[in-house]
Amino acid sequence: MTALVGLDVGTTGVAAVALAPDGSVLARAERSYPLSTPRAGWSEQDPEDWWVAAESALEEVSSGRDVAGIGLSGQMHGLVALDASDRVLRPAILWNDQRTGAECAEIERIVGLERLIGLTGNRALPGFTAPKLLWLRTHEPETFARIARICLPKDYVRLRLTGSWASDVADASGTLLLDVEQRRWSEAVLDALELPSVWLPPVLESPAVSGTTTAGVPVAAGAGDCAAAALGVGVDRPGPASVVLGTSGVVFAALPGYRPEERARVHVFCHAVPRAWHAMGVMLSAAGSLQWLHDAVAGDVSFDALVEEAERWGPGADGLLFLPYLQGERTPHADPDARGAFVGLELRHDRGALVRAVLEGVAFGLRDSLDLLRGLGVDVTAARVTGGGARSALWLRICASVLGVPIERTETDEGSAFGAALLGGVASGVFPDVHEAVRATVRTRDVVEPEPAWADAYDELHVRYRALYPALRALR
Ligand code: XUL
Repeated sequence: MTALVGLDVGTTGVAAVALAPDGSVLARAERSYPLSTPRAGWSEQDPEDWWVAAESALEEVSSGRDVAGIGLSGQMHGLVALDASDRVLRPAILWNDQRTGAECAEIERIVGLERLIGLTGNRALPGFTAPKLLWLRTHEPETFARIARICLPKDYVRLRLTGSWASDVADASGTLLLDVEQRRWSEAVLDALELPSVWLPPVLESPAVSGTTTAGVPVAAGAGDCAAAALGVGVDRPGPASVVLGTSGVVFAALPGYRPEERARVHVFCHAVPRAWHAMGVMLSAAGSLQWLHDAVAGDVSFDALVEEAERWGPGADGLLFLPYLQGERTPHADPDARGAFVGLELRHDRGALVRAVLEGVAFGLRDSLDLLRGLGVDVTAARVTGGGARSALWLRICASVLGVPIERTETDEGSAFGAALLGGVASGVFPDVHEAVRATVRTRDVVEPEPAWADAYDELHVRYRALYPALRALR
């Protein structure tokens, strides 16, 4: 039977999946690798680890199967610097690395914030790729001088898999070097930052063929992990949004057309669908907030038992609010120094109340992103939720009521690798286009509706939640 293979080059490891053309999962494989933090706030990986893991996972899911096409997705924004012989010059600097605050300020000073948003649809954030290049120029000038080409994490795997040096417009949007509206590198930004355009690979639309494996299998250009994950839950056009309740949280919607947010509080990127764009808000601690609470106060209790304790409290946990900014925040406050808080504690509050407040605080953070997306003209009809947090029925009821839309779960939750496989299916001609790939493979499994009484309470509580960040910032 024909198989479509998707490979996601993640932060903790690679995930590969082989799908039948109806979307059923034939095989999956995972391989993990380490992440190094040589200094506080730094986050690096060895690209060789990605390749070793990718090769082995691809082999496992492909073996004995007639693979028609492969699609790639991966952690966005990471900088891989290569010399003239395509040797990796230093460990890759990843999306969650925080070393480039000064470079972000420098970029916004040199280009001008308004002009930068005009040219790229986005503002300079420490995770993005361009500030990492400026950091290298200042702090490791010898390495910088030897750069011949650069690429993003999944594009390094492509280079090893096919010999092709290429990227796609969805992933390239997160470099801050792409003219997101025109879907090509921005000469204006490259000139302003004095970066050579020859360092950058050709950018393709996500379902385009970028090269072939030695066995002759076409490899799609692919996409960044968020866009690929959205395709995997059927967010190929405006309508439902994709909500990821993973360690970090993402609210992602396809846009009716290109339109940057005036203060770039959400990212506006090319979608993995030709001629389409999407916007997304990224929360740094979503299910990560619950993980933190679990580890801090309930290490010996299962997550299910912990969440059950929260069922005993109603919406608002009698006046207790939680701010989920445990490691700074991206959306709606681009502030690496933002911090978390419990506000409104009283003697009656027990551990269940703390859990309830955490579940609700994360949902309010998602609502902040959703409100910004709605401001861009997206009429969000439902939220398709994936990630570890999607296993909690209570959390889904809270999210549906806070967001004011039904929460839907799809039949499969294979994350970005699923969407990558669909792109592989289009590249190989199994599907005529991305919309058809989604139609043939994505099915909803169940729906959780908002509860009217909770929704009213949460509308009021969200107003109080929003007042907390500016109030606490004033105390810093
Ligand atoms: C998206 C982002 C993360 C990474 C890692 O902007 O920073 O989602 O792609 O998964």
